[in-house]
Amino acid sequence: MGASGLTLYQRLESTTAGLTRYSYPMHNPNLSSSDHAGPPWLTVPEDLGFLDPVLWPQGTVRDLSGQILIGGQTVNALLEQYGSALYVMDEEDFRTRAHQFTTDFPGWTVHYAGKSFLCRSVARWIMEEGLGLDVCSGNELAVALSVGFPPERIGVHGNNKSIEELISAIEAGVGSIIVDSFDEIAKIETLAAQRECIVRVLVRVTTGVEAHTHEYIATSLEDGKFGFSVTTGQALEALMVCENSPHIHLGGIHSHIGSQIFDTEGFRVAARRTMALAAQFNSASHMIEEINLGGGFGIAYTIQDTPMSPAELNRGLVQAIDEARSQYNLAPVKLSIEPGRAICGPACVALYTVGTIKKVDIGDGKTRTYVAVDGGMSDNIRTALYQAEYSAVLANRSSDAEPMLSRVVGKHCESGDILVHDVYLPSDLRIGDIIAVPASGAYTRSMASNYNYALRPAMVAVNSKGSRLILRRETLEDLLALDVGEDDKTLG
Ligand SMILES: Cc1ncc(COP(=O)(O)O)c(C=O)c1O
Repeated sequence: MGASGLTLYQRLESTTAGLTRYSYPMHNPNLSSSDHAGPPWLTVPEDLGFLDPVLWPQGTVRDLSGQILIGGQTVNALLEQYGSALYVMDEEDFRTRAHQFTTDFPGWTVHYAGKSFLCRSVARWIMEEGLGLDVCSGNELAVALSVGFPPERIGVHGNNKSIEELISAIEAGVGSIIVDSFDEIAKIETLAAQRECIVRVLVRVTTGVEAHTHEYIATSLEDGKFGFSVTTGQALEALMVCENSPHIHLGGIHSHIGSQIFDTEGFRVAARRTMALAAQFNSASHMIEEINLGGGFGIAYTIQDTPMSPAELNRGLVQAIDEARSQYNLAPVKLSIEPGRAICGPACVALYTVGTIKKVDIGDGKTRTYVAVDGGMSDNIRTALYQAEYSAVLANRSSDAEPMLSRVVGKHCESGDILVHDVYLPSDLRIGDIIAVPASGAYTRSMASNYNYALRPAMVAVNSKGSRLILRRETLEDLLALDVGEDDKTLG
């Protein structure tokens, strides 16, 4: 619950009603999208400067000059102080989204999926908001432990954890290790026996449900690297092996079905198949105590996306679990989920500065404007990797110029180096303008690279008290320090 006393989703509804958001003047309403060459879902906006609440952190507004403020801080001041390009994380928005999951999932354990974005500040926020944390590597674990994150609230994922990673997890006393192969179960049993301890595990299973965006496909084929197949019987075998390993405590079953999921249908099928597995396994001497349904809850990257609120999600998941439980006559189990993107994604805006603007003829008398900015696939690989869609607006001023179909591209030596495939920006866009890309918090900085020796941008946290650096920008010295190449003359 934020300072206003309203929940985040109530506040979004009130801002949708246009109560709090200043926007640009309206554009020529006679201009239709058929005059342009964008994708079918992209309509020519009436108001190019509108900040749709579904896309932006809750505290994002424009001032009277049209400049955007995120968490009360103006984009011009942020870039002046920290440089461009920049990730801006709205701390209150992040915390509110995290907290909302705990209140809307009463009795469940909510783990934040650290792979979506993790740094020490984020680990602290997650700890303070009362969530658990999932990590996917020994180094993510080290980040969490470095801020005193309670190890018993940490789950450790990974399909090929090294011995060193397993040892650090076991010695830290993590809450559970999510096991992914028979080899790993054997390694954990040996390491735990050597340390005379018991390690709690969840068995990651594949239910044959693969859900992506608005579609889900329930297949019988499970041709992927993660988990044990339910259909082939491997999952049941893995549960039995864990149960019979003296230094392993079998905590339960883990299922993760995909990403950017916008309904609960896929979860319903996964819950049914997971419960069927639990029913097969349970006996008088052993019972599954926890079912983890994973993450993957969709967020809005463009106005075509319609995410569920945590409360709606909870209703769907509870119903799915209840149906499956009654079908298999199972006692209540502990339930858990692992949202990542739904917490950090919408809380962060990426800011870029326009460097070049180029009009390209795309046939039929139509043009597309390529707007090149000072970042790209090195700070957000998602568009190039998954053809992800994003939105963007002019952020440093207002404009009542006509809309122009634009493609926001990066500065890297790759034609696929695209940040925003299709977006309408004002036609008076100029070099030096600031472009803001909402929903930039998940799988962006966490997947960033140094392609072309790019320096990964800084991230600042903004809140009502001001702004502060939470990840500093890389420097050339950082990169040169890694490059220890000796000259040939020094060899032999
Ligand atoms: C096992 C598991 N849990 C949780 C997540 C988080 O997914 P999201 O960030 O889409 O919620 C992922 C993402 O790939 C995952 O693999």
